[in-house]
Order: sequence, then C-alpha cells, then structure tokens
Amino acid sequence: MRFKTTAEHEALRKKVREFAEEKIKPIAFDLDQNNEYPDDIVKEMGKLGFLGIPYPKEYGGQGLDVISYAITVEELSRVDGGVGVICSAHTSLGTWPIFAFGTEKQKKKYLIPLAKGEKIGAFGLTEENAGSDAGGTETTAELDGDNYILNGKKIFITNAPKADTYVVFAVTTPGIGTHGISAFIVEKDFEGFTFSDHYDKLGIRSSTTAELHFENVKVPKENLLGKEGQGFKIAMATLDGGRIGIASQALGIGQGAYESALGYAKEREQFGLPIAHLQVNTFKLADMATYLKAARLMIYSAAELKENHERYSADAAMAKQFASDLAEKITSEALQLYGGSGFIKGIDVERFYRDAKITQIYEGTNEIMRVVVGAHTVGKAPK
Ligand code: CAA
Repeated sequence: MRFKTTAEHEALRKKVREFAEEKIKPIAFDLDQNNEYPDDIVKEMGKLGFLGIPYPKEYGGQGLDVISYAITVEELSRVDGGVGVICSAHTSLGTWPIFAFGTEKQKKKYLIPLAKGEKIGAFGLTEENAGSDAGGTETTAELDGDNYILNGKKIFITNAPKADTYVVFAVTTPGIGTHGISAFIVEKDFEGFTFSDHYDKLGIRSSTTAELHFENVKVPKENLLGKEGQGFKIAMATLDGGRIGIASQALGIGQGAYESALGYAKEREQFGLPIAHLQVNTFKLADMATYLKAARLMIYSAAELKENHERYSADAAMAKQFASDLAEKITSEALQLYGGSGFIKGIDVERFYRDAKITQIYEGTNEIMRVVVGAHTVGKAPK
C-alpha cells in the first residue's frame, strides 16, 4: 500500500484546484441559491479531461489511476459539492459499467463520448420500493423481437435530466429476485422516456436530480449491458467504485469547510486573541485535520486496491461511511466556529453544511455501508 501521492497526482490536484477556485468558486453561491446546473462549467470540465480521468486514452479518457479520479472529485467538492457529484455520478456510475461490461461496439458508441465529456452519464437504479433494498427493482424490460420494452419509474437520479446516457436496471425475469435483473443503456431521446422536474434539494443544488419515467420505451437488444440476469451484480460492482467517488466528495466538502473555518478562526478576535488560539477551538481544528487525513488515506487505499484489481468492496464502504460521517461533523463544527455569521446565507460553511448531509445517504446509506462491511467481517446471516 502506497501512502504518498506522486508528483503527477499533485500536479493534477493543482490543475483541478485552480479550475475550481477560478471558475466555480465565484458562482457557487448563485448556483446553490438558484438550484442551477452549471452547463458551461461541465462542458469545460469535459474539455479539460476531468470527466474521463480513469479511462484508457484509446476510449477518450485520460488513462490515469483511481487515486487521480478521487483527487479530482475531492478538489471539485472542496469548492462545490454539487459539481463534485456531477463528476462522480457521471464517471463512476454512468460511465464505468459501460467500460467494465460493455461490448466493443457499446464502448465505441457510448464510452468514448462519455469519457471525453461530450456526453454526460447517469445511473438509474433507485425506485420507490427499491432504495436500500436494490434487489426489489420493479421496472420491467420485456423482450419483443429486437427490442426490450421498458416500463416503470426511477427516483432520485443524479444528473437527470441533463445526462444523455443512462444505465438502467430492470427486471427481465420476474420471480427469481436479484438474478432476474438486467442492465440497459438507454439514450435520453428514446421515445417514451421522460423526466420529472428536478428536485428542490437541501444541498448539492448545483447538481440536478430527477425521476426517470419509462412508458413502453423500446431499447434495442444490442443495448443490453452484460448478460441477461447480470444486472444486479453490475449495479453492486458499479456502486463499489461509486462509493470511492462519494467518499472523495465528502472529503472535499469537509476539507473546504475546515479551511474556511481555520481562516476565519485565525482572523476573528475575541478575549483579546484570534479564536483559533482558544484551546477549545485549537483542539477542534486539530481534530478536523486529523480525521481529514485519516479519511484521505482510507480513500486512497481503497482506490489503490481497485486500481490493482484486488477486492475492495468493504474498503470502499468503510471509506464512504467514515468520510461522510466526518463531513457531516466537520461542516457542523466549522459553522459553529463562525458563530452567528455561519448561519447567514452567503458564507460558504452554510452551504457546505447542507451539502454534506447527502453523502451519508446516497450510493448506499451509511447503515447499508455497515451491512457491506459486516458481510466481509462477521459474514452473512444464516438464512
Ligand atoms: N460485486 C459483485 N457482486 C455482488 C456484490 C458486489 N459488490 N455485492 C453482492 N453481489 C452479488 C452477490 O454475490 C450475490 O450473488 P449470488 O446471488 O449469485 O450469490 C448477489 O449479488 C446478491 O447479493 P446479496 O444477497 O448480498 O444482495 P442483497 O439483496 O442482500 O443486497 C445490499 C445487498 C448490499 C443491501 C444491496 O442491496 C445494496 O448495496 N443496497 C444499497 C443500494 C444503493 O447503494 N443504492 C444507491 C443508488 S445510486 C445513488 O445513490 C447514486 C447517486 O444518487 C449519486
């Protein structure tokens, strides 16, 4: 296990940080207030290669490693957690399953524009009756000649309706549980595929989230991803990688809040000295730095395991749970350090505080993270 990033990693961090500081930071407050997706920023991120970091150059990606991807999401989220998740959901959820399970034809058609950032990807798994229990999927896909006919509804889908390509999970063989679920690549323009308005969320408001509605949507047979019945495993394997992305998003939000609070605490004077030097606050800031370091190491460790094709499900779940619980705590403490000023709109810690909460919920709640870790430590409960 390598505990030090390379010069290339740090050069990438600098590049993403400069972009985030120069282009995103000045508009982050307005994006949040207006619930607005930054189309131009996302296009520019595509051109800079930020939307295809871990994919081979031959498929339009940057050919970098998983740690580079984690750094990219962290640095975007350090300024705006919404932009961080646009990148993460696109890269880990909307693109990776096509890279890992797609045919050569599917990769040429879908992976290349996704990795180049010319198209945006999304992942349609969650339903009203299939949240934590993803195996309860009810959307159906019935084979009819050369097409599958999709019917059903997905909720809470990040990047919808902005995304162009959706990896969607549906039941092809009812009655056999998770083994009856298959994965499909669905294009935004397929007839009968529509969206709800995007939700008005507590945080990450620069990212869009909407419902997907399928009404007799004809999906060509050639858009089946992997084999029939392999969908649940594709979803689970995809989420393992996605959790590295969300852990990085949480880390970035926490880092942004920590730096903001540290800067303020060094300036703000009470009782005749900067409040950072009041021991109660020094200790808070020291704890934040310690836990951020621990989260970063956990994330890079899980990323390195993924890079080396070793088992990493539990490591990704641990990192996601640890980093997101941490983000919630750090953003709360950072706001506390600001006192009353932190409670007023326009101060970044107020936004970070709202952005952090979702990281404990999506891509598997932190309760489900413990189920995943528990399955690797205690083992599965006897049936
Ligand atoms: N990789 C590959 N295969 C896996 C796997 C993995 N990580 N985890 C499980 N599987 C396989 C199992 O081996 C098993 O295979 P067999 O039946 O052939 O033995 C099969 O999948 C079923 O496994 P389980 O019995 O463990 O499945 P389960 O029904 O008990 O569910 C769960 C397990 C961990 C609770 C799972 O349902 C889960 O992860 N739930 C959370 C869902 C989730 O994370 N949703 C997030 C939505 S996306 C999102 O949030 C994105 C966003 O907005 C940004």
